[in-house]
Amino acid sequence: MDRRASFATALSLGLLFAVLPMVDDCQAETRGNPALGLIFVRENCGGCHAVGRTGVSPLAIAPPFRELHLRYPVENLSEAFAEGIVTGHPTMPEFRLEADQIGNVIAYLKSLER
Ligand code: HEC
Repeated sequence: MDRRASFATALSLGLLFAVLPMVDDCQAETRGNPALGLIFVRENCGGCHAVGRTGVSPLAIAPPFRELHLRYPVENLSEAFAEGIVTGHPTMPEFRLEADQIGNVIAYLKSLER
């Protein structure tokens, strides 16, 4: 094989492997990463809400996250998360989430439905 051809092959293979992980990342962002969602809600919401599969909410009037899907499809929350979630109750602080955080939190909430 002549040298230029093998260099071209090596180069295109190199490019392929450089690009593949990026493609993967994009999909991860649209699908959301439930593990990151859990970390986020533990830190930001766990003070009031029960965020796991068991347990009661530290703040009794805050609905446990595993029960949200009984009220509405949790995907419906993505808009509220983006615009700033405001509830009827003043004890719940207003939150506004970044797009990737929304995907992660929704993915985590969906994982609680199973
Ligand atoms: C300081 C306490 C507190 C924190 C922190 C908190 N919440 Fe809440 N949340 C509440 C209370 C209280 C309610 C019930 C409000 C009501 O029934 O009007 C509530 C309700 C909700 C609801 C239901 C809204 C509805 O109308 O169905 C969602 C969804 C929600 N919270 C998401 C979150 C998320 C996501 C976080 C973290 C980013 C979070 N909350 C952090 C106190 C809190």
